Amino acid sequence: MELTDSRILVTGGAGFIGSHLTDRLLTEGNEVVIVDNFTNSDASGVPDEAELIEGDLTDSDLVSEAIDGDIDGVFHLAARKAVNDENPRQQFEANSAMTYNVLEAMDEAGVSEIAFTSSSTVYGEAPRPTPEDYAPLEPISVYGASKLADESLLSTYAHTHGMTVWNFRFANIVGSGLRGAVIPDFIEKLRNDPETLTILGDGLQEKSYMYLEDCLDAMFHVIERTDRPMNTFNLGTRTTTSVNRIADIVSDELGFDPEYEYTGGERGWTGDVPKMRLSIEKLSGLGWDPEYESDQAVRETARELREEME
Ligand SMILES: NC(=O)c1ccc[n+]([C@@H]2O[C@H](COP(=O)([O-])OP(=O)(O)OC[C@H]3O[C@@H](n4cnc5c(N)ncnc54)[C@H](O)[C@@H]3O)[C@@H](O)[C@H]2O)c1
Repeated sequence: MELTDSRILVTGGAGFIGSHLTDRLLTEGNEVVIVDNFTNSDASGVPDEAELIEGDLTDSDLVSEAIDGDIDGVFHLAARKAVNDENPRQQFEANSAMTYNVLEAMDEAGVSEIAFTSSSTVYGEAPRPTPEDYAPLEPISVYGASKLADESLLSTYAHTHGMTVWNFRFANIVGSGLRGAVIPDFIEKLRNDPETLTILGDGLQEKSYMYLEDCLDAMFHVIERTDRPMNTFNLGTRTTTSVNRIADIVSDELGFDPEYEYTGGERGWTGDVPKMRLSIEKLSGLGWDPEYESDQAVRETARELREEME
């Protein structure tokens, strides 16, 4: 996919990662069309220079109208991303319908290049660091199952409809604008009560946190250097950060010294994978390594959110 002077469609472009991606694509001289229904975002994340189509991607007619022959490539980010979604069946159906609609509309319009944001959750509770060719893939959440279903559809279109797919399996991505995740959750809780912090689980959950700018850099790096039908890459850090450590970093950045209370159990909620670290050797082999280690990504994000969430 050409990432300069192109016309790129970003689904979910108003969201946390999508809005930053849109900024980056615009800076690189592309035109950007965003489709988003604002179920987990609002128009404040959409730059004036981007074209906005407000609508639901589960509507195949809307997707067909958005993807015409003038689109050069697609970044498909829109998804219901909660691991503890209150209606998992709707989540599965919506996520797979969106992906199927995007692929069918691309095929119809003769658009053949798509980048997709998958997730570490496709691996389930796999040994770490988990490489891209680890098998069998046994997700433990409907969210993870929906991402694996999406990947299967993308693979099908890559191999039978002449498409080129960049399939990125993200660790936890953190940075400016992050909402509904452990770092902003701790900031909010500590501002309400600086004395006590309630931590979901036992605090020993340990995952890889990748800084948003690194995530964008890595996607661009891979897309510019690979062109197989299906290019699957883990994006993450070599190091991890425990939930206790996140609590320490956030408390430190806010200048508080709270007592920690635990809800108990090894995972924060059903379907949560308590320990996650992806192998990034394939990415490194292409000449790219993250600038921020996991702890640094958490600290930088805590600093940014400390100001943004005032
Ligand atoms: N943030 C992470 O740590 C992380 C980790 C792994 C994978 N991902 C994936 O990256 C992508 C982007 O994540 P994010 O953190 O920016 O999430 P986000 O929720 O901020 O962005 C997703 C966007 O999609 C939109 N959307 C949802 N359903 C839609 C629908 N039916 N029609 C139109 N728009 C719809 C939402 O309104 C939102 O703006 C998602 O696919 C997510 O699963 C994110």
